[in-house]
Amino acid sequence: MTEATPFAERLADLEGEALAALAAVETEDALEAWRVSYLGKNGRLTGELKGIGALTPAERPQAGARVNAIKAALETAHGARREVLKEAARSARRIAEAVDVTLPGRGRGVGTAHPLTRALARIEDIFAGLGFSVASGPEVEDEFHNFEALNIPAHHPARAMHDTFYLPDGRLLRTHTSTVQIRFMEVERPPFRIIAPGRVYRADAPDPTHSPIFHQVEGLAVGEGVHMGHLKATLSRFLEAFFERPLTVRLRPSYFPFTEPSAEVDIGCFLCQGQGCRVCKGTGFVEVLGCGLVHPRVLERVGIDSERFSGFAFGMGVERLVMLRDGVSDVRLFYENDLRFLASLR
Ligand code: FA5
Ligand code: MG
Repeated sequence: MTEATPFAERLADLEGEALAALAAVETEDALEAWRVSYLGKNGRLTGELKGIGALTPAERPQAGARVNAIKAALETAHGARREVLKEAARSARRIAEAVDVTLPGRGRGVGTAHPLTRALARIEDIFAGLGFSVASGPEVEDEFHNFEALNIPAHHPARAMHDTFYLPDGRLLRTHTSTVQIRFMEVERPPFRIIAPGRVYRADAPDPTHSPIFHQVEGLAVGEGVHMGHLKATLSRFLEAFFERPLTVRLRPSYFPFTEPSAEVDIGCFLCQGQGCRVCKGTGFVEVLGCGLVHPRVLERVGIDSERFSGFAFGMGVERLVMLRDGVSDVRLFYENDLRFLASLR
């Protein structure tokens, strides 16, 4: 049947069929398959071109011209279809990527300062109200400022109370902020009232109330006639302002080489209401600070006349205070940076 169809008629059919197939092409892959099947090296039109050799010499020029005309027409149609597909793809992409300005915005949490940073700011505020200014000193210290000047000579048993991190050069990470007492009094003369907030380090075994890094706020007030009553009044004013609620406070005699007399302050455990638990280790109390009257030898060491001047000092554990105030059951939570914990504190 195909054999019987005159060459020109078959070409016309082929062209019609190719154009109809092209109109149905919807994808780039299908377009390429169409091109291969009609215009490719082994495509149908190329096949017809080869068939010209079987025609009589008289028929050949016209047939050749006809095949070329159809080839040009199909190529033009192919190019046009490709443009149509490309434009369709472009506009589909535009729609997919379009920004819907009417959609509600994505919520973004507002960051806040770390609970310890906020507590330190509050502590500074409260003491500013009591006439204290803020002093500071280095975290990498020498034995003189961390121990000797504080009346803790080498081999004194009190050194064993501080599990100290030493640097290879003999310097150390300060184990308490009492170093700033010395740094400050080396250059300033009484009367003065200062606090010194900062990080301190101890090779303590971590547990619910011990972290190898923690914060202290040191306090130091030196003047004429400063006595234990001033210390107690200052601490109770501070604790009232910081906790904003009634507390069980216990002032317990203690020992520090750099104060005489010395005391430690314990606060009733928030977790068990004094019944005894893992936070207070069964005692019903958590120790928050050490304090006392500045030892005369410490004053003399920095050239302050201990006959004329006296002073009080304290050093409090900031993590412990926040734990007791906000009901935090483990000091290590402050250093794990779990946002659920950090956001749960006011
Ligand atoms: C001292 O560090 C003294 N320098 C305090 C002082 C200053 C006494 C001025 C007298 C005059 P102590 O080692 O007890 O004392 O530590 C003070 C407070 O730091 C403790 O009461 C406790 O609240 C806190 N603290 C101690 N070790 C840790 C720790 N590993 N993790 C968290 N808090 C701690
Ligand atoms: Mg202590």
